[in-house]
This record gives sequence, C-alpha cells and structure tokens, in this order.
Amino acid sequence: MKVLVTGGTGLLGWWLAKTFYDKGFNVHATCHSKQPTGLENVSWHRLDLEDPQSIVGVIEEVKPEVVVHSAAYTEVDGCELDKARAYRVNYLGTKALALASQGVEFFVYISTDYVFDGVRGMYGEDDVPSPANFYGLSKLLGEVAVESVLGDRSCVVRVSGLYGYSPTGKRNFGINALEKLLRGEEVKAFHDQWLSPTYVRFLAKAIARIVERRIPGILHVAGERVSRYEFALRLAEVLGVDRGLVKPVSMDEVKLVARRPRDSSLDTSKARGLGIELPPLEECLRDFAVTYRKLSGME
Ligand SMILES: NC(=O)c1ccc[n+]([C@@H]2O[C@H](COP(=O)([O-])OP(=O)(O)OC[C@H]3O[C@@H](n4cnc5c(N)ncnc54)[C@H](OP(=O)(O)O)[C@@H]3O)[C@@H](O)[C@H]2O)c1
Repeated sequence: MKVLVTGGTGLLGWWLAKTFYDKGFNVHATCHSKQPTGLENVSWHRLDLEDPQSIVGVIEEVKPEVVVHSAAYTEVDGCELDKARAYRVNYLGTKALALASQGVEFFVYISTDYVFDGVRGMYGEDDVPSPANFYGLSKLLGEVAVESVLGDRSCVVRVSGLYGYSPTGKRNFGINALEKLLRGEEVKAFHDQWLSPTYVRFLAKAIARIVERRIPGILHVAGERVSRYEFALRLAEVLGVDRGLVKPVSMDEVKLVARRPRDSSLDTSKARGLGIELPPLEECLRDFAVTYRKLSGME
C-alpha cells in the first residue's frame, strides 16, 4: 500500500512516515523548507502548498493510494499576522490537494481543537465549530474543503496540543518543559488553560489504524483533559525531578498576538467506541521520556 504523508519534516508527519514504514507501507513524504532527517527508506518530495502546480505534480508523480495530510502553517500567532499565507496554505492548499487526490482510496486530514472557541471544553464531533483565531478558521476551511470534495473517502482527525520528540527539531510545549526540567530549570505553565495534550508517537499509530480500517467522518483523537500546569507537574513526576520547578501562571499575564481558547479539550468517546484510543497520560509521558533519551543521543 502506497501512502503519501505531507509535512514529513514536521512533528507529527515524521512519526507518521516512520509508523507507516514500520508497518510495511511504501512511504512517500513531503518536505517544504527543511531537509528531511532520518527515515532513509522513505521517498521524499518537495511540496509547496501555495503552488497548485507543485501539489498536482507530487500527486501525479507518487500516485498514492492513501494521503495523510499533516502539513500546515501551524504558527498560531503567525497565522494571525499573515492571514493571507494561512488562507493559502491551510485552506487553498488543502482544497487543491483534495481535488488532486480524487483518485485516491482514502484521505486523512489532520485538524485541530482550535476550530472551537474554548468557552466550554470537552467538544464532541457534532459540536458547532467557532474558531477563536485565524489559524483555527483556516484549518476549519480545510476540513470543509476535504469533506465536500472527498466525502466518505476521507477522515478529519482533530487533535490537540501535540507533544513529543522531533528528530527534525520541531519545538513544542512538551519538549520545552522536558528539557528545562532535566536541566533543573523552572517551567512556567498556565493553570487556567485546558487542552487534551496528544502524544505524537502513539497518535501516529492510531492514525495508521484509521487508515487501515478506512474510518470515514470526523474523529477526535487526543489525550486526556488537563491544564498546561497539570501536564508539566505530571511530566516532572515521571522524570523524577522536583515538582516545585513547575510554577503556575495565568493566561491573562501573557500577551499573545492571537486569541487562545481557554478550554479546547476534546471528547474522544466516539473514537474510543471504534477502538481508536491513546494510552493514559502517564504511559504517554513515560514513552516520551524514554524516546527522548534514546533518540536525542542521551543513551
Ligand atoms: N502542533 C500542535 O500542537 C497541533 C495541534 C492541533 C492540530 N495540529 C495539526 O496537526 C498537523 C501537524 O502539526 P505539527 O505540529 O506536526 O506541524 P509542524 O511541526 O509545524 O510541521 C508542519 C509541516 O508542514 C510543512 N509545511 C509548512 N508550510 C508548507 C507549505 N507551504 N507547503 C508544504 N508544506 C508546508 C512543513 O515543512 P517544512 O518544515 O519542511 O517547512 C512541516 O513539514 C497540522 O495539520 C496542524 O494543523 C497541530
């Protein structure tokens, strides 16, 4: 089975390409500004989602049976400042990719908890999206494009706060906290922002199962609901370092360009009912610590 993973140089895309390869898929992946790192058995292609010809060119060259579209302009503040780029990459690029992929068997679009405003939390797949910022809006437009072009041959997988080790160097709140805690430095974390932190290595395995089973529709696949402060405390426990290094701060103390949802946690009961489930937070954090030590050359 030939799969094309867009965004193979990104945090999730790298783990998707590795997971599909480990499962015996013929894996093609795309990069944009970065050079591919590792994954020698994966075929790499340069893709620019702002260039329709590049999109059609990659699909015609690879002729994938499955596409997993993980590439996106993911900087939330960047999207607010450069809405035109966010619109081109996350909406128009996704729409062009969906149109070019009409001949594929199955298409997965990775979306976000930021399609919700974060007023209530624990959002289900049937809740009405209402993005609080332009990043969320551009990703929601991408969802609508994929669903309208590909219908039942597509799955929109909404995830929340991705964390994990990235061999391509992609920073995330998990790795920032882990490295500071291991150095014995203080970690400041919001006590009043809740989400469903999602561990990329296990998420990639769950997405591979969705592909194998061709599950259509919208699916929330994410970790359990915690505040960022609680997440950092649990990480400190797993690492065996002083919990006192984690300091609570309020979202209101920090001025960010784009508005952030206060509680963007996701209800994952639909996915669990289908047997698509991530392990408990503790297990994810343990694997995160072990994988970090192994892959970053500490061991
Ligand atoms: N990170 C989160 O916390 C989070 C939360 C919810 C949902 N998501 C969604 O999950 C997916 C994966 O996120 P991530 O954090 O793994 O992403 P990431 O690390 O920021 O990686 C983004 C990927 O997209 C590629 N890309 C960016 N602009 C492109 C363009 N114009 N044309 C082609 N490729 C382009 C990048 O290529 P280069 O690196 O080579 O430039 C990179 O491979 C995204 O769809 C995101 O919206 C992420």
